[in-house]
Amino acid sequence: MVGKVEPRLLFPFLWVLLFVGILLISKGLHFHESLLMTSSKEVLNVHPLAPINAKHVDLINNPFTLEGHMFWSSIVGMNITPGIFDDCRNLAGELTSRHPLPKVFHDMYGPFKSKLKTVLSDGKPPEGYSLKYKGESLVFWNIITRIPHIETVCETGFNTGSGTLLWLTAKPNVHVYSFDIGDHPYAKPMADYIQEQFPGRHNITWGDSTKTLPLFVKKNPRIQCDIIYVDGGHTYAVSKKDFENFSKLGYTGSVVILDNYPDYRLTFMKDLGGMWEDNRRLMNILEVFKCTYGRMRKQGFSFGLLTKTTTHT
Ligand SMILES: C[S@@+](CC[C@H](N)C(=O)[O-])C[C@H]1O[C@@H](n2cnc3c(N)ncnc32)[C@H](O)[C@@H]1O
Ligand SMILES: *[C@@H]1O[C@H](CO)[C@@H](O)[C@H](O)[C@H]1NC(C)=O
Ligand SMILES: *[C@@H]1O[C@H](CO)[C@@H](O)[C@H](O)[C@H]1NC(C)=O
Repeated sequence: MVGKVEPRLLFPFLWVLLFVGILLISKGLHFHESLLMTSSKEVLNVHPLAPINAKHVDLINNPFTLEGHMFWSSIVGMNITPGIFDDCRNLAGELTSRHPLPKVFHDMYGPFKSKLKTVLSDGKPPEGYSLKYKGESLVFWNIITRIPHIETVCETGFNTGSGTLLWLTAKPNVHVYSFDIGDHPYAKPMADYIQEQFPGRHNITWGDSTKTLPLFVKKNPRIQCDIIYVDGGHTYAVSKKDFENFSKLGYTGSVVILDNYPDYRLTFMKDLGGMWEDNRRLMNILEVFKCTYGRMRKQGFSFGLLTKTTTHT
């Protein structure tokens, strides 16, 4: 039996409700206020393992958020699914029509190729270079031109400098630090050529990167690598050291690129794949995308974001 409730009896109840409501809202506001007022350092202290970004921005491009997923899908021109081997052949179609390598690139690439011809003394083709692969080049171009804060590229493996040419052509404020063992006769003349074309914007350190990189990092702790491109010694040991040493100059959100993984060659799969997957599992790398050409798994590449945890003193 439900009797009719006297409206008079409801009044005290409404007052209590109003009081509790005001209490909750003020608490909530206070909470937000305290979050806004504390410096980012204090907020991070609440979460000891929160990644810290040297540039004081969060992982805005985290591929596992809706925004990050949309952002990276638009960069590579297809829907990304972090963790799986995508097919690089699907990249170029969409990107070629929407974001092809522009004239400014071809204007530099033509003379570069002519120069390369003159320094390939014995007519032997050079070692593998990333520009041969359209999808990969387009993704690199999209990454560097469409992420505004990217200025500094750190790379092992200069070879002919074709990748370096792409980075330097993309934006006038880009600087590249290359490391190469220098055992190809064409490498040094090509580095001279790059430095003539882009005065003051390219440094190269000759020698085994496992020896030169740790020294360079020690001497130049203030250099910040916005892109870390590992394409030098294609072994587990060398690629791991390259990545680790470059990481010291990187920050949470630096783009990490590894060439030749996934790739059908067993040593690349095991060595480079081991390096990539180990660091992915340790969450040093937040993978965004990896792909390889066709079922043969030819000439792939992987890229992700560097994560660095806070160190507390
Ligand atoms: C695949 S090529 C780099 C291609 C280049 N990134 C491009 O896009 O054109 C690899 C280069 O790394 C160099 N290299 C191999 N082992 C190295 C090491 N331990 N330290 C530095 N460079 C190394 C090779 O001499 C070669 O020039
Ligand atoms: C880069 O090269 C320039 C010109 O040779 C030199 O002055 C500068 O010190 C180099 N930077 C590093 C970090 O080696
Ligand atoms: C850097 O390279 C050196 C020499 O290859 C290696 O011993 C070291 O573990 C690497 N990593 C870091 C973080 O320095």
